Amino acid sequence: MRFAPSILTADLSRLKEVIGEAEAAGVDWIHLDVMDGVFVPNLTFGPILVEAVRRVTRLPLDVHLMIVNPERYLEDFARAGADVITVHFEATPHAHRAVQKVKELGKKAGLAINPATPLAAFEALLPELDLALLMSVNPGFGGQKYIPQSTERLRRLKAMRDALNPACLIEVDGGVNQTTVGEVYLAGADVAVVGSALFNDKPVRENLKALKEVLKR
Ligand code: DX5
Ligand code: ZN
Repeated sequence: MRFAPSILTADLSRLKEVIGEAEAAGVDWIHLDVMDGVFVPNLTFGPILVEAVRRVTRLPLDVHLMIVNPERYLEDFARAGADVITVHFEATPHAHRAVQKVKELGKKAGLAINPATPLAAFEALLPELDLALLMSVNPGFGGQKYIPQSTERLRRLKAMRDALNPACLIEVDGGVNQTTVGEVYLAGADVAVVGSALFNDKPVRENLKALKEVLKR
């Protein structure tokens, strides 16, 4: 399973070092949580920060757009250096058009759903997706508790993915830590976003090692 640190809970005043530490520790992607204060009750950053992160790492940038009508900014995030651009099913009446646009821009296209959104929301688009992001917390903040129903949803999403598009990666996002990482892995997640489980009072290297240890059991 790949690990994608979310910098939302990192010390952004040390962003360059933080990303360097994560990269040296052996993370796979960098997960960038873009929030507009409308789709979610929090406001973070835009393309300008993706550009800055692009300058300090060669790791794939996994951009999670928690913004309404994301089609407005797809070109900006693509130009800023995003490798994967994920839009929320709930954030636009035109999710198919948004996914098509991401692919036209030459980027990998992801679709995300919130904890209350039926898995059926993935059905129509799964054959075109590079990534299916399942929120296991209500979006907007790091450090929240994993929603237990997410594990069964992951299992069902994996069955859908295996049937409709085996090449599509499943990403779980929210509340993944040493207690939950084993079950999300067994349920079928290919990528785990980790925020507060990685960026806390312990070194990133130690936190990542502890997460990987769980998977070895
Ligand atoms: C929440 C974000 C998540 C979050 C993960 O809206 O999409 O990526 O930052 O943070 P943790 O791992 O602390 O739940
Ligand atoms: Zn996220």
